[in-house]
Amino acid sequence: MNKATRKAIIAGNWKMNKTRPEAKALLTELAPMVADVKSVEIVACVPFTNLETALAATEGTNIKIGAENCHFEKSGAFTGEISADMLAEMGVEYVVLGHSERRQYFAETDETVNKRTKAALEAGLKPIVCVGELLWERECNITEEVIARQIKLDFFGISADDLKKCVIAYEPVWAIGTGKTATADQAEEVCAFIRDTLAKLYGADVAETITIQYGGSMNAANAAELVSKKNVDGGLIGGASLKAADFTTIIKAAEVG
Ligand code: PGA
Repeated sequence: MNKATRKAIIAGNWKMNKTRPEAKALLTELAPMVADVKSVEIVACVPFTNLETALAATEGTNIKIGAENCHFEKSGAFTGEISADMLAEMGVEYVVLGHSERRQYFAETDETVNKRTKAALEAGLKPIVCVGELLWERECNITEEVIARQIKLDFFGISADDLKKCVIAYEPVWAIGTGKTATADQAEEVCAFIRDTLAKLYGADVAETITIQYGGSMNAANAAELVSKKNVDGGLIGGASLKAADFTTIIKAAEVG
């Protein structure tokens, strides 16, 4: 990553894991292990039911808390949904949006990701917007088309000032939870392409300041190489964020990288 212009962000995406006592135990174990980390922003994105526990467990630490989604309407008849305002009021700082599992299993589209991103920004949250191609799309050589389309649609109508509050996570769908990591060169290639796309839309100066993470089977063994790449500014970590020791190793790799 380019440390002169950007801060690394390592975010855990817990997905549908951990009860409240388990969440408390994991964060209580993690906090002292990463207490000395200054150059990396550390985030744990946890299930809605764990947010209050996670906020309490990390109070006074350098660990920030995020949610894993939010709805785009402010309030109303949307049974089962959670609004951005509800999260912001709790003290939640980040929210993952457009994760491929949401797109794949819950029919989220670029249009709703765009609306969610706008709602999150309006509430003062920092969106972590996920983009990434399917294996089939990579094999058909349309990775760049897919990514450019997602970036253009997901950030449509969002100002440069608001974009600067966003994080982008490049997560090739074929690498998520599969143990198949993109090589560091593959990750760098697409993260650089995302930055070029942002430069065309917002100008190079803005694009240079945006944190672009890699996500997809990132772990304690491969993190250092991934974050050593110029355009890879951290990671969105699923499985490996559920173990304090592994997550710490990844965070410390980003400190060096
Ligand atoms: P993984 O998940 O690290 O378990 O592959 C990453 C993600 O889905 O954000």
